[in-house]
Amino acid sequence: MALVVVTNRIPAEGLDALRAEHEVRAWESEECISRADCLELVKGADAILTLLTEKVDGEFLDAAGPQLKVVANVAVGYNNVDVPACEARGVIATNTPKVLTETTADTAFGLMLMVTRRFGEGERIIRSQTPWQWGMFYLLGMGLQGKTIGIVGMGQIGIAMARRAKAFGMDIVYADDATPPAGALAGLDARKVEFDKLLNVADVVSLHCPYLPATHHLMGAEEFAAMKRTAYLVNSARGPIVDENALVEALRAGEIAGAGLDVFEQEPAVHPGLLEMDNVVLLPHLGSATTETRAAMAQLAADNALAVLRGDAPLTPVTKL
Ligand code: GLV
Repeated sequence: MALVVVTNRIPAEGLDALRAEHEVRAWESEECISRADCLELVKGADAILTLLTEKVDGEFLDAAGPQLKVVANVAVGYNNVDVPACEARGVIATNTPKVLTETTADTAFGLMLMVTRRFGEGERIIRSQTPWQWGMFYLLGMGLQGKTIGIVGMGQIGIAMARRAKAFGMDIVYADDATPPAGALAGLDARKVEFDKLLNVADVVSLHCPYLPATHHLMGAEEFAAMKRTAYLVNSARGPIVDENALVEALRAGEIAGAGLDVFEQEPAVHPGLLEMDNVVLLPHLGSATTETRAAMAQLAADNALAVLRGDAPLTPVTKL
């Protein structure tokens, strides 16, 4: 029997699978674990399930000890995991792709609808009991049909977003250094363009790339200036891909029409400038937040840890980016 540590609360599907084979030490408080508690909790672990709120670096891995074999991140993004530090210690790192693809694309699409059709703004009017009256010109938004979506990062979630956009009658352009697998874009009529070109032509720029040193502040002052003044930004990927100060400046200057954000640069803090703006929709990182998807993520992370503990290959090791 090995010791599996789970650093935050996860759905029972994951815990039950782990407990069936191993001893499990899990953080049970509703409060997110502190760094000090985390370093204490992981001591002696053979496998660790982490959430994106935990920083898995050399200190974390050393606190666990040399017997550690696998860190299974319960998220598709793994910018919280120092993969070279894991490799240097012979620790396998895994993530949870695929199981959250559709749910996260739903969130991105929801943000796009909310911001372009001003649904958040309308809801706030009703909730604040501000007087309102149906009117021909009241709270007009931008229709999506016939508009162009620019997808930055045509991975699984980007493609799922493109499918939704296609169903809504949008034209699709995308920018990605990698080429999507053959057939993955069938029926989408998606055109690959340079990133600069995408910024020029898109009515909605939607971010679906991983957060890496190369994508830090990918969207900054210059990029906002290159977008149409009528265009919107949607970010359901990672906060620091966007320079939040530059975004606030661009919105204030009317360089872009609005933004829908599920993630923030200094999460959970949100730039105060964004809070004041009605043309901005803000969600508290709900990308994969459905009961079904979170259960599937916990199960997949547990299956990854169990496979490594059995001496098998993990199902979804992190891919080199
Ligand atoms: C959520 O943000 C994830 O990366 O799974």
